[in-house]
Amino acid sequence: MAVEAGLDAKRIAELDKQHVLHSWSVQNQLQPLVVTGGDGRYFWDAGGNRYLDFASQLVNVSIGYQHPKVVAAIREQADKLTTIGPPMAHETRSELARLLAEVTPGDLTMSFFTNGGAEANENAIKLARWYTGRHKIVARYRSYHGATGGAITLTGDPRRWAAEPGIPGVVRMLDPYTYRCPAGHPDPCPVCSGAPHLEEILQYEGPQTVAAVILETIVGTNGIIVPPDGYLQSIREVCDRHGILLICDEVMAGFGRTGKWFGVDNWDVVPDIMTVAKGINSGYVPLGAMIINRKLADWVQDKYFAGGLTYSGHVLACASAIASIEAFQEEGIVENSAAMGEVLGEGLRGLMEKHPSIGEVRGKGLFWGVELVKDRETREPLVPFNAAGEAFAPVAKLAKAAMERGVYLMTHWNVIICAPPLTITREELDEGLGVLDEVLSLVD
Ligand SMILES: Cc1ncc(COP(=O)(O)O)c(C=O)c1O
Repeated sequence: MAVEAGLDAKRIAELDKQHVLHSWSVQNQLQPLVVTGGDGRYFWDAGGNRYLDFASQLVNVSIGYQHPKVVAAIREQADKLTTIGPPMAHETRSELARLLAEVTPGDLTMSFFTNGGAEANENAIKLARWYTGRHKIVARYRSYHGATGGAITLTGDPRRWAAEPGIPGVVRMLDPYTYRCPAGHPDPCPVCSGAPHLEEILQYEGPQTVAAVILETIVGTNGIIVPPDGYLQSIREVCDRHGILLICDEVMAGFGRTGKWFGVDNWDVVPDIMTVAKGINSGYVPLGAMIINRKLADWVQDKYFAGGLTYSGHVLACASAIASIEAFQEEGIVENSAAMGEVLGEGLRGLMEKHPSIGEVRGKGLFWGVELVKDRETREPLVPFNAAGEAFAPVAKLAKAAMERGVYLMTHWNVIICAPPLTITREELDEGLGVLDEVLSLVD
């Protein structure tokens, strides 16, 4: 049997259709783009069409495509040693763990490396349960925490349904979604201010049974929901009062996405456990981590840590993450995210003045959501919750039109997620905003 070499686009698509099972989709409705390359903020297809990536793929290619320093680091490490098991110590793993302790806030100090975000969350809830001796985890509805058994149960969005009943012990609270506040957003709002709603849930659940609260610091896929100032601090205080651990899922919000190194840095809150992946090395090689604070690191020292992965701390992944963090520091990439975030926010607010289909724009850094409505007064969503097929057609049409104009957009029901690579320039942002302006006219 010979390997087929030099496949043309048609054959690539054919083989993909026959042999590749794609995530979260109806296979026979798919027509994946055949991508042949990428550079900076752009990727291109086999037909020679170039696309400005306004989504950083799955909000992970934060540094952009083919960053020379990161590519060189992978190459150099591959020349030296491509793999070594987790029981060994290795230069790249040790150095990355040190760097993570340096760039993360407070006393977050020790990392357990994973292949991605879901595994980081699995390990976080396992450790929280073990440390506290309690079994319940409070998670939120408008959330995504990964596709593995525990992480998909933590997930609040409908992707959870197919995996139910899932793991026991997950209880849920509502989100500080001020635009559609489930409590009607009275002032002061019990849900959006954090503590009153969480306290009420703990009262029913019994705080002595709750190991951890897990939340996305800024909700990503489920609509870029930025908590009001004070929310995170109040959740932290409630957790502390009851001996409950706070786990912040920074898989999407971390590593400069929000204009600070981590989402929590916007409110000076330090969680007990932070989970990261995506922007840690822009997915050049799969990598995630559960990063724990000093209290947990000290506690775990003389215990048997019942967790492991064959590829934990893979040396190619670690080498790429070190190079990426160095590039972030040398090139001021977090600062660029903050500065370009201002430009993007201003541009989106400008579009809102022109387009009645925009109900709200919200975000921080280069992490913005554009929420589309049928009517600004009633706030009726342009497409319903969990829309698919025909019901999703207006947003699908908008995304397709943007693609035809050379801009790749990520959409989630009635929200356009604008999350370009953090290295984006003002001119590139203008290009993306210009196309958004054109395609929004299709749904006004
Ligand atoms: C906030 C958040 N947590 C966890 C995950 C899961 O990460 P992974 O797909 O790397 O397992 C994602 C993925 O989109 C995410 O956005």
